[in-house]
Amino acid sequence: MTETTAMQCTPAISKMIDWQQAMKTTKQTIGFVPTMGFLHEGHAELIKEAKKNNDRVAVSIFVNPAQFGPGEDFEEYPRNLDADIRLASQAGADIVFCPGVEDMYPTDGGIRIVPGPLADRLCGASRPGHFDGVLKVVLKLVNIVQPDTVYFGMKDAQQLAIIETFFRDYNCPAVIVRVPTVREMDGLAKSSRNVNLSVQERNEAPVIYEALQQAELLVKEGGSLEGITQFVENTLREKTSGAVDYVSILTYPQLEEPTAVSQDLIIACAVQFSKARLIDNIIFKREG
Ligand code: PAF
Repeated sequence: MTETTAMQCTPAISKMIDWQQAMKTTKQTIGFVPTMGFLHEGHAELIKEAKKNNDRVAVSIFVNPAQFGPGEDFEEYPRNLDADIRLASQAGADIVFCPGVEDMYPTDGGIRIVPGPLADRLCGASRPGHFDGVLKVVLKLVNIVQPDTVYFGMKDAQQLAIIETFFRDYNCPAVIVRVPTVREMDGLAKSSRNVNLSVQERNEAPVIYEALQQAELLVKEGGSLEGITQFVENTLREKTSGAVDYVSILTYPQLEEPTAVSQDLIIACAVQFSKARLIDNIIFKREG
């Protein structure tokens, strides 16, 4: 059994490396939960899952400017480090790594990671460069933390598919674990951005998951994917004040147009409210 010690918190890359090296020396496995902070029950679930299956758990908190485009919500992204430290500790984290932007990006040597076609669709179509920034920070974080296993939530399904492909293609040794989306009682996917919804928008937002669930049923009943996509889009337009960015049904994790009924599908959407862009999805089998 692993000895319980008080959770540590450090902004220093060198301290984070010292910690992971001490874990390696003592042959303790590391589960890693990368986050952008403003932690909620979805993150707590990732941390608990990591705790179950590893000797130690590291959580990173870093609002990564590289994955925000011009005019996006980098400045408005909610932050509360004290509350995050409490939640991470209660969920079972052993260390919180919370570097500053100048620690993570002291120089820019100009080298870019280009994720390719998987990043051109869904969120990537309206957020060019977003997944380049995600891969950049995830690679840096896993190089610093050197985890055995990394935990990602299924709400960010496209991000997950891209990171899984990146790890496979570039032989990153860490294992990736997919953790199901955690939802509010009314079905809204938990997200740090939910706090930036107005009262009216928060009341409307559960329609997103309701529409996706209806779409899943219609697909399973054999309906036309085009018609069902349109149905979800119309529902979101009629029942929310947000602007629908996309609704799409693709194969998962390839994110291609479906061709066979046996493929795993994702129905995914993004809705831009006044100060929060919400995404959600359901991954399912068309048959069975
Ligand atoms: O999913 C997130 O919170 C972020 O995209 C991640 C993976 C922590 C990278 O900044």
